[in-house]
Amino acid sequence: MQLIESLRWRYATKRFDENRRVSDADLKSLEEAVNLAATSFGLQPFRVVVVSDPELKEQLRTASYNQPQLTECSHVFVFAAMKKMPAEQIDRYMDRTAEVRGVPRDQLDDYANYMKGSVAGKSVESIEAWNKRQAYIGLGTLLAAAAELRIDTCPMEGFDAGEYDRLLGLTEKGLTATVIAPVGYRSEEDATQHKEKVRVPLEEMFTAR
Ligand SMILES: Cc1cc2nc3c(=O)[nH]c(=O)nc-3n(C[C@H](O)[C@H](O)[C@H](O)COP(=O)(O)O)c2cc1C
Repeated sequence: MQLIESLRWRYATKRFDENRRVSDADLKSLEEAVNLAATSFGLQPFRVVVVSDPELKEQLRTASYNQPQLTECSHVFVFAAMKKMPAEQIDRYMDRTAEVRGVPRDQLDDYANYMKGSVAGKSVESIEAWNKRQAYIGLGTLLAAAAELRIDTCPMEGFDAGEYDRLLGLTEKGLTATVIAPVGYRSEEDATQHKEKVRVPLEEMFTAR
């Protein structure tokens, strides 16, 4: 299975080759992969800012405990979760579903009401946490897709979300930075690439019942 080989190849890259850039075509493939990630109800309650501007990357590095990946990588994918899930958002999704699938909108009303009811029963905090979990599915899909293309990544939570929200203008859009992934190509000098992967044995992770 090609994917297993790719997942063995990938690792959380600490040092990127500053001189190599991900092509526009590959970037598009990565974006498409993230967009195809599964999400709860299909609501896709996150957006992704793809940062390549050197000055902005410098500022993000400062807001990320000075981790070098932020400036040495080609692009930084910032997954930003929606802080809320308003009923209008669900309606927009249903409108799009009706259009794409060619079904009358009113046929989807029951499903829309079911979703709205499910969301209405959640606290503001739990909706934000729920939306953030969806962003992580996008992150996982990005890591796997990038590995298939032999593009390196580093999933990261070590950053100041409040600073990111300010620098990227996320707050005014109702978004909050959740998890990030610098992408690019590993530097030959990155010693981490030579380290063995450390994982629990399959029999410890999986139980057959
Ligand atoms: C959600 C998440 C947050 C992480 N945050 C950081 C980080 O801030 N800085 C970093 O260098 N690595 C970070 N990592 C990388 C992990 O340390 C790494 O994935 C783990 O040790 C397993 O190694 P591997 O990905 O190379 O197989 C993070 C990974 C995940 C999934």
